[in-house]
Amino acid sequence: MTKLSVSAVVVALAAAVYSTASSSDLTLPPQAVYVNPLSWNVLGANSTLFRNSSIDQFFNPTNTTSPFFQVFDPSFLNILGPNANFRTIVANPGFAFAHEAPIYDAESNILYFSSNDGGPLGYNGWYNNSVVSMLNMTEVEEAIASTSGNVNIQIQTLPLPDTVQMTNGGTGPYKGDLLLVTSGRALLPPSVVLVNPVSPYNATVLLDNFYGRQFNSLNDVKVLPGTDIIYFTDPTYGWLNSFRPEPLLPSQVYRLDPSTGQVRVVADQFINPNGVAFTADGRTAFVTDTGVSDGFLGYNQTYPATIYQYDVDPATGSFMNRRVFAYADTGVPDGIQLDTMGNVYSGCGEGTHVWNPEGTLIGKFFINSTTAEMMFTKAGLVILDEETIYLAQIQAQGTNLVTL
Ligand SMILES: *[C@@H]1O[C@H](CO)[C@@H](O)[C@H](O)[C@H]1NC(C)=O
Ligand SMILES: *[C@@H]1O[C@H](CO)[C@@H](O)[C@H](O)[C@H]1NC(C)=O
Ligand SMILES: *[C@@H]1O[C@H](CO)[C@@H](O)[C@H](O)[C@H]1NC(C)=O
Ligand SMILES: *[C@@H]1O[C@H](CO)[C@@H](O)[C@H](O)[C@H]1NC(C)=O
Ligand SMILES: *[C@@H]1O[C@H](CO)[C@@H](O)[C@H](O)[C@H]1NC(C)=O
Ligand SMILES: *[C@@H]1O[C@H](CO)[C@@H](O)[C@H](O)[C@H]1NC(C)=O
Ligand SMILES: *[C@@H]1O[C@H](CO)[C@@H](O)[C@H](O)[C@H]1NC(C)=O
Ligand SMILES: *[C@@H]1O[C@H](CO)[C@@H](O)[C@H](O)[C@H]1NC(C)=O
Repeated sequence: MTKLSVSAVVVALAAAVYSTASSSDLTLPPQAVYVNPLSWNVLGANSTLFRNSSIDQFFNPTNTTSPFFQVFDPSFLNILGPNANFRTIVANPGFAFAHEAPIYDAESNILYFSSNDGGPLGYNGWYNNSVVSMLNMTEVEEAIASTSGNVNIQIQTLPLPDTVQMTNGGTGPYKGDLLLVTSGRALLPPSVVLVNPVSPYNATVLLDNFYGRQFNSLNDVKVLPGTDIIYFTDPTYGWLNSFRPEPLLPSQVYRLDPSTGQVRVVADQFINPNGVAFTADGRTAFVTDTGVSDGFLGYNQTYPATIYQYDVDPATGSFMNRRVFAYADTGVPDGIQLDTMGNVYSGCGEGTHVWNPEGTLIGKFFINSTTAEMMFTKAGLVILDEETIYLAQIQAQGTNLVTL
């Protein structure tokens, strides 16, 4: 990276001149940088900005200090708004406490999330469970009212029953409860489970098998808007991260009708299906494939880092007409959320990447670190970054995906 930085200075200066004209019409919020694609589409044969790795080499040609808003298209400014601010709200170095499964309860203004399963600094694995914690966003709002800088709010870990093992996905509130999917641990089965969001945090398992067969390691979950039908993904990360036995099912996406108990597969043909999301009208679905990232097998950049888009068959609820929505230039697209304008957000290599409804990359919430998930709250977009939680106070609002 040092080698890159030296020449980045040269290229950054050259491009600064080039892009001044086109960016002079743009009024950027303080922490935003306009990276006009026209300035960077030709680097020149001798440029050291070329990178070989999408995993540990990032695209920050202006060498801007994180966190910042990287703007590729002026339309990203509609997402940010004129007074956008980007900062740290929780830091807990040495513990990957903020990984995935964000659930925002707007009524209590509480954000729930899980720690990392089987990854570095998660302190879990075949023998140890992960944890689910909560962050009181009212405390965040009170703390940031008097400063534009970083704050550090205390989180609280929930005393969940042992039926909840390795939580990796979450959505809701669903009929008043947290709806979690767990990856399972060792021989303990992955599950779809409801958790009481308040003390005593009791849980009810809705599903822990497919006609007697354990799932591999459930990863993410969403509810089809306008229904109570639960959709979830089942990649093989439990095995790839050494806390589950070898997979015995294909990597696929399922749907569960809680009133009949019927479970069926709605999509397959993935390396590792990961995040799932719907448009607010429930007609379109997105599934991310983090195939590049293969746990103990390593990374292979020739595999998908891809968001697929589908039509949701109104008659059957199956996913039809798969097409590529977007391919992430850095890292893998993990969790996925939409805003009310239909823009698509996914946790990738450098932070949260944002595509417009046509699939054009319009900007990034750049934290110079891999992030798996994010969630809209009343205070703004919260980005989970393992040992750190960021808040981006922006104009865009999240789609309320569960209306029950
Ligand atoms: C780029 O980053 C490096 C290290 O982070 C720093 O030394 C250098 O001054 C930066 N260059 C510019 C142009 O900001
Ligand atoms: C690239 O480097 C080579 C070898 O140093 C040099 O001959 C060539 O002129 C350089 N090209 C440009 C565009 O600077
Ligand atoms: C990419 O790989 C080429 C060929 O191995 C090497 O010369 C170059 O230095 C590498 N670039 C970076 C940024 O690592
Ligand atoms: C599991 O927990 C035990 C006891 O807290 C601890 O000593 C051990 O390091 C943990 N294992 C992992 C993989 O973090
Ligand atoms: C969140 O914090 C606010 C302000 O301190 C407090 O009034 C509220 O009771 C807290 N909520 C929960 C669920 O602890
Ligand atoms: C928690 O326990 C209460 C009281 O028994 C029950 O009404 C509720 O359904 C339970 N919630 C969950 C998610 O299991
Ligand atoms: C990546 O996958 C391709 C296709 O299976 C394979 O040919 C290649 O050897 C792999 N590369 C690495 C670095 O594992
Ligand atoms: C960004 O991350 C890269 C890769 O981890 C690292 O080499 C670099 O120093 C970081 N830059 C800043 C400004 O923190």
